[in-house]
Amino acid sequence: MEDKNYFVAISGSLRKGSFNTMTLKAAQSLAPPNIIIDHLPIAEVPLYNQDLYTEVFPEAVERLVDAIKAAKAVIFVSPEYNFSIPGVLKNAIDFISRSPKKPLNMKAVGIMGASPGALGTARAQYHLRQVIGCLNAYVMNKPEVMISQVSTKFDQAGNLTDEKTAGLIRTFLESLAIFSKKLG
Ligand code: FNR
Repeated sequence: MEDKNYFVAISGSLRKGSFNTMTLKAAQSLAPPNIIIDHLPIAEVPLYNQDLYTEVFPEAVERLVDAIKAAKAVIFVSPEYNFSIPGVLKNAIDFISRSPKKPLNMKAVGIMGASPGALGTARAQYHLRQVIGCLNAYVMNKPEVMISQVSTKFDQAGNLTDEKTAGLIRTFLESLAIFSKKLG
């Protein structure tokens, strides 16, 4: 029987017209039948405050934690803000990291990112690797999906029109399925 892969994906951008969320959605539709990708929103995650969240976490955080725990792999699709990841994504990761369920521990992770600039979020991706390394997540090294000049690669309706990028995302998803299977 064919293996089913349940992946979850988090976008590091909250804005409606986000290219990174478009990339996440493109991955959902490009995924082969054996890969299902659920989009986990982080917009409702409050700012972390250690005075407030010692034992009980907000529902939005618990939902994230449980979905990540149940998933075979996590995909982060993030913009680059000032050479790093956006604060909203770091905040969500910081929150998740305080859960005793340790959902990212030994979890297979893939990273993608899109930017209007030339480097396609490379600097942010290497920062993200460092941050989730602290949580003992296992990040797939290759292929790297760093989408540069992103505004030329999607149409007005948010559909990915660049075939090369589509092929790279397909390869990324297949590789992540193999990688997560190897981790067991
Ligand atoms: C940016 N942007 C940006 N781009 C980049 O390639 N490197 C960078 O360091 C930054 N820094 C940065 C900081 C802040 C605060 C903003 C708002 C933007 C531009 C960024 O890549 C662009 O706005 C993307 O379109 C954001 O991603 P979404 O929202 O389209 O997914």
